[in-house]
Amino acid sequence: MLNSAALLSCFDPGLGTIAGVVPVKRCLSDLRGCFADATAYEQARAAGNPVIYTVAGVEPGGGEGDLHYGVGLIRPGRVGAEYFMTKGHLHAWRAAAEVYIGLSGRGVMLLEDEVTGESRTAPLEPHRVVYVPGGTAHRTMNTGDAPLTYVGIYPAKAGHDYGAIARNNFRCVVVERDGRPVMVERNQL
Ligand code: F6R
Ligand code: MN
Repeated sequence: MLNSAALLSCFDPGLGTIAGVVPVKRCLSDLRGCFADATAYEQARAAGNPVIYTVAGVEPGGGEGDLHYGVGLIRPGRVGAEYFMTKGHLHAWRAAAEVYIGLSGRGVMLLEDEVTGESRTAPLEPHRVVYVPGGTAHRTMNTGDAPLTYVGIYPAKAGHDYGAIARNNFRCVVVERDGRPVMVERNQL
């Protein structure tokens, strides 16, 4: 039997924290290469190295049928026209899907099929569930003025492949145009 901490956790949807869990912090320096506008990125880095997002993960077990989950918080802000975002990844076990549930704030998920390269966005906000199919690179952006928080639930054996994104990046970026998020091809920015 799992211990009670693994059976039950208590999260704060506003703070994006889980009681007793030390979150992973990702700073602007960890996102080198993610933003298409390299000049805007270097300007932002010259001004500092803020925390962009945190993830508090719960990993009760690593068995065949087990699940892991995490509560994420992305701060509001932009680098040039691009919203603060996560690094993004594929699952190492490509078949692994994931469910994201919006808790607070307003955001967008960028989903890219690894095989076809087809890209699309999905809104991530309270009362929305985004299903990320297997074989789909996923990155999350805060498109609002307040912190975006969400839960992501995925198979324990999914694993995270950041290498493919570090090499090829996403084909598209999400930028602010006339106050709204718009997806554009990276090379047309
Ligand atoms: C887990 C998952 C999320 C992300 C989180 C941070 O599979 O998709 O919990 O880990 O949104 O994003 P990354 O991992 O891309 O830094
Ligand atoms: Mn994932």
